[in-house]
This record gives sequence, structure tokens and C-alpha cells, in this order.
Amino acid sequence: MYARWQADPEGFWAEAAKAIDWIEAPKAILDDSRKPLYSWFPGGKVNTAWNCLDRHVEGGRADQDALIYDSPVTGTKTRYTYRELRDKVAELAGWLRDRGVVAGDRVIVYMPMVPEALFAMLACARLGAIHSVVFGGFAAKELATRINDAKPKAIISASCGVEPGRTVAYKPLLDEAIELASFKPEFTLIWQRPMLAASLVEGRDFDWGKVVPGTAPADCVPVASTDPLYVLYTSGTTGIPKGVVRDNAGHMVALAWSMKNIYGAAPGEVFWAASDVGWVVGHSYITYGPLLIGATTILYEGKPVGTPDAGAFWRVIEEYNVRTQFCAPTAFRAIKKEDPEGKLLADYDISCLRTLFLAGERADPDTIQWAEDKVKVPVIDHWWQTESGWPMAANMVGVELLPVKYGSPTCAVPGYDIRVLDNDNNEVKRGDIGSIVVKLPLAPGALPTLWQNDDGFIRSYLQDFPGYYKTGDAGYIDEDGYIYVMSRTDDIINVAGHRLSTGGMEEVLSYHPDVAECAVIGAADQLKGQVPVGFVVLKAGVNRPDEEIEKELVRLVRDKIGPVAAFKTVTVVKRLPKTRSGKILRGTMRKIADSEQWSMPATIDDPIILDEIAESLRNIGYAKSEKGAA
Ligand code: COA
Ligand code: AMP
Repeated sequence: MYARWQADPEGFWAEAAKAIDWIEAPKAILDDSRKPLYSWFPGGKVNTAWNCLDRHVEGGRADQDALIYDSPVTGTKTRYTYRELRDKVAELAGWLRDRGVVAGDRVIVYMPMVPEALFAMLACARLGAIHSVVFGGFAAKELATRINDAKPKAIISASCGVEPGRTVAYKPLLDEAIELASFKPEFTLIWQRPMLAASLVEGRDFDWGKVVPGTAPADCVPVASTDPLYVLYTSGTTGIPKGVVRDNAGHMVALAWSMKNIYGAAPGEVFWAASDVGWVVGHSYITYGPLLIGATTILYEGKPVGTPDAGAFWRVIEEYNVRTQFCAPTAFRAIKKEDPEGKLLADYDISCLRTLFLAGERADPDTIQWAEDKVKVPVIDHWWQTESGWPMAANMVGVELLPVKYGSPTCAVPGYDIRVLDNDNNEVKRGDIGSIVVKLPLAPGALPTLWQNDDGFIRSYLQDFPGYYKTGDAGYIDEDGYIYVMSRTDDIINVAGHRLSTGGMEEVLSYHPDVAECAVIGAADQLKGQVPVGFVVLKAGVNRPDEEIEKELVRLVRDKIGPVAAFKTVTVVKRLPKTRSGKILRGTMRKIADSEQWSMPATIDDPIILDEIAESLRNIGYAKSEKGAA
């Protein structure tokens, strides 16, 4: 299949494009007239909500479950058939239309894992409005940054999120974000949850439950293939997130193709991505992918452990006859930690499960083997990122299960010509580590650009390796074409499958009046994969206890970025290790923290400082078995 795609990429995607309904067929398959920018299926007209909902209602799936909401944190379970979901979405779209939302307008969706989040996304898609979902675990400042960039006409939100043991009031965060942002939305629509009512600002905030019901439904608005369906912000190398754009047609074609060929999922089956709508996995495989093919999707508002116990995943799989599950490796590490023997499995029958997929962070072989042993079905590591929108490397169980090599997400999938390059743009030998890049053009569904920022897109992704897209990951390809993704080449870290920028955290730390300079590294963590660890040097003359300042810094990151950053460890040090040109040696600090072999950088300013850092790390539980400089 890969060879067939290589021989005729456009023919390959033209064939795949038959899986969706077109209002007008595209005039071409690929537009390469604006290299290095490309667009797929130019000239076509489509509607994504039509393809996710209406065509299934008309095609015989009206009474099949489209969406199952299972919320152990609130004790709620609700099912929506395709007809019910279509009607909810069309009604909400009708209300948004009546308030003046038109194709091309942006609408920010800041919501917890409730069905209304999906209604909101799909209602935007129905109108051709561009949604931008912001993860609920982000703080007001992060939301404000996204408001300023997306300039939304409206924001759809909820009164609160429910985390185990606490209710997270969303509305005060939303109010603060609107206050902070220089751009102001025209109005907000608030879903009031029974656990906590939000107070509304007269004339600006509307109560969903009061205003939306009974509104005349909206029809699907035809949009160009290349019109944006959504913008999803993701961490870049600074505190300013990147607005990844997703188009309508290429996205649908790619997702529908991936559901069948990569995931081996079929219409009518239950597909469960245990992620959050705020992340790309939630966009692609909670909302759009399953609905595009007429499958049933599960929206799970809970955790793998503690809601109520480590048997939660098994319960959901059994209860809803889940055929395919997708989650981050960290979720299985959490289950393994609580129930190492998998004793709770004895209470459930999960024989319906056919495949378990893991992504979002490196899947360590231990976790894969543990999962294989417990669930007794193939456990598939696959590799992708917000930018690609769907897997770039996977074991395509829908086509043929290749032998699993632990530590590798298997091979490139059709659409992605993956190479490993050195800093001079030359391909390295098989087995040698380098930058993982993708030869242009990227596959349909992958980002065509950044939101209103072609130059930024080119600068961030296309400039360093001309002719290629830079993934930001480093790794190697073995003799059999298996890809190994080892680390990032930038400051991005992966905390419990959540992508975060250590640069962004450093920016926050440096706001503190007592901090002269700082560094944040991602240290290995048994549960979360990585966690951030901060180092700060205080300004001369600061005389307060270190612990007091450290507490303030932890609070500051929580307030400015959000609890999801899991920033809990920061330590005051006398100085930071630097090269003679002043570059902080973060990579070496990380290796010391993780007790990896490291080499003394030739350009180091003062080697003694690394000993001081190692000592500080030992004091906070890192750098336990010091290997020292090679
Ligand atoms: N709204 C508000 N706060 C949120 C939130 C949300 N939507 N999601 C997470 N948070 C908060 C949590 O309450 C927690 O706060 P705390 O510091 O007060 O405890 C913090 O952010 C970190 O959350 P989380 O990453 O969920 O860590 P945890 O320690 O609560 O749970 C795991 C650990 C492993 C169970 C959990 O990280 C998990 O389920 N991971 C899977 C992640 C995943 O699916 N990623 C998607 C990529 S595919
Ligand atoms: P996100 O954009 O949040 O999906 O994060 C994407 C990044 O997560 C990738 O660039 C990788 O660094 C990492 N990642 C995702 N999946 C995998 C995987 N299967 N193996 C290793 N790293 C992964």
C-alpha cells in the first residue's frame, strides 16, 4: 500500500476522497502552485458536519448511537443517536446563526468533557465557522493569548469542570481571560452545570439552557475544501502557542481513511479515545474520525484511576462493547501502578476489545508489554502530533499487522515520506540518530499553515530543512524501516501526554520579582513520562527563605499556565551552568537529573557549577545514581 501511494500520491488520495460526500467535486487533488505551501482538493465544496451527522441519519444510522457520554465524576451516562446528535447540533448552530455567526468567524470553545463540547464543535462546522477548542486545564492567561490570536466572535464555555475531588470554576477563568485579552468577543454562551452555576454578565453572556432550546435548526453551509475547520493551539518553543490550522476536505479524507486502514475500525462499532477534546486526539478521534465513518464515539469524563478505581477502563470497555481503544501510555502506567497484577480485570469481560492504541508520548516497552499481557490484544504504539492531525507512523492493523518492535511506532504510513537528516540536511545512515522530517507535501489532513501566519509556518517548520517539514522530534529509522522517536529537538516536554513548553514556564518564572534567571527542564517521571523541574537564581540582596519563594513560583506557574503543567518542583540555585557564550546547558542538566551518562561540554564556562546542580537535583530526589561525565 505504501508503494502504491509513493507511485501515485494524487491517485491514492483521489481514491480515498470517495469516502466522503462532496457538494462540489474538487477541481484538482493537490495544489502545489504556492510552494512550499500546499493545499489538498482545491475547488471542492463540502461540509464536515454533514459528513459526520446528516448523511448517516439519511443513510440508515439515524437510530444508532453516535455519542455515549460516560462521566464517573458526576455519575452521569447519556446516549445520543445520530438523529439526536444531528438535531442538537443543528439547533445550536441555528442559535449561533441568529446571533450573527457566519462562515469564517472564529468561535472559542473552552469546555470540560461534556457532550455540549462536541455539539459546539460540530455546530461551528455546520456553519463553516472555525472553532478553536482550548483545553480546560489551561489558566486564564493561556486562554487570553488564544483569544488575542484567534479573535473569536463568540466563546462557548461551561460553568465548571469536574476533577476528582474538586470542581473547577471555568467562568471566573473565562471572565479573567476576556479582561486580560486586548481583543473582546461579542458574546459568550455558557452551559450551566448543576454542580456550580456561573454568574452571567448581562448582554454579553447567554445561558445555553435558556436561549438555545427551541431555536430553528440551521442547515449545513457549503465551504471550500481548503477553508479552515478549526484552529488548535499547541505549545511551541516560546510562551506563544502556535495556531495549527485544519482544513475541511483533506481532514475528512485523511481521518476516514485512517479509521479504516490504521485503526481497523468499521461503521457501527464503538471507538473510544480516552483523551480530552482540548487535545488533537480529542478532535480527531473523539469527535471527527468516529463520526465520519458512522461509528459510535465515547466521551469519558473521568480518569484511568481514582474514578473510582483502576478498573474504570475495563468497565467502560465492557459496558459499551468497545472494539478499539486509544489512550496515552501514561494512563496505562497509572493503572499498572494502582493494580500491578491487573486483579480488577477479573471483574470485567473485555473480550470485545480488538486493539489498543497508544500515542501522545513515547510508549516505554515495559508499559506496552504489561498492557499486552493484561488486555491480550495487539497494543499498537503510533506516532503523530497536533500538526499532522493523524498518525504519521503506525502499525496499520486495518491492513496488516506487522511484527511489533518495542520502542518503535512501526513504519511511515501512506501520505508521509519520513526521513532522518543531519544538521547539514543530509540523510543519515539507517540506525543513526538525527532530526525526523517529512518530505513535502505533507499528507491531506496535516496542517496547511498556522492561523494567519504563513511566514511563521515556514519559519517554524519548513525553513531549517528546505523541502521538508521539521517534526521537532529526533530519532532514527532501522534497516526494516521502523521508526524510533527518541526525544524532542526543542524545549517541548510531554507531561502525562500533555504537550508543554519549558520555555513558556521559564517566561512565567522570570516574572517573579525575586528571580534573576531561571531554567526549566523535563525530567523523567515514572508515571507522567516527564515532569518539569525548575531552577532559579535569585536577584542579589533577596533575603527571604528559599522555600517561601519556591512555593510562590509553583503557584505562579499554576495560575499563569494551569494545573496541567504539573509544575511542582523548583529549586533555588546559586548559578546556572552555561557555555562561554551564555547558553544555559539545559540538555546536560536533564541528563544529570535522569542519571544518564553525560559529557562535559567543551564550551562550558565553569564546570564546578554542574556539580552544584547535581547536588541540588539529588536534594530533590533526582540524579540518584550519578553516572558522571563521560
Ligand atoms: N480542567 C481543569 N484542571 C484539569 C483538567 C481540566 N480539564 N485536566 C487536568 N487538570 C488538572 C488536574 O486536576 C491536576 O490538578 P492538581 O495538580 O490539582 O492535581 C493537574 O491538572 C494535572 O492533571 P493530570 O495530568 O490529569 O494529572 P493527574 O495527576 O490528576 O492524573 C493521570 C494522572 C496519569 C491519571 C492523568 O494524567 C491521565 O489520565 N493521563 C492521560 C492523559 C491523556 O489522556 N492525554 C491525552 C493525550 S492522548
Ligand atoms: P502533541 O502535538 O501533543 O500530539 O504531541 C506531539 C509530540 O508528542 C510528538 O512530536 C512527539 O514528541 C510526542 N509523541 C507523540 N506520540 C509519540 C509516540 N508514539 N512515540 C514517541 N513520541 C510521541
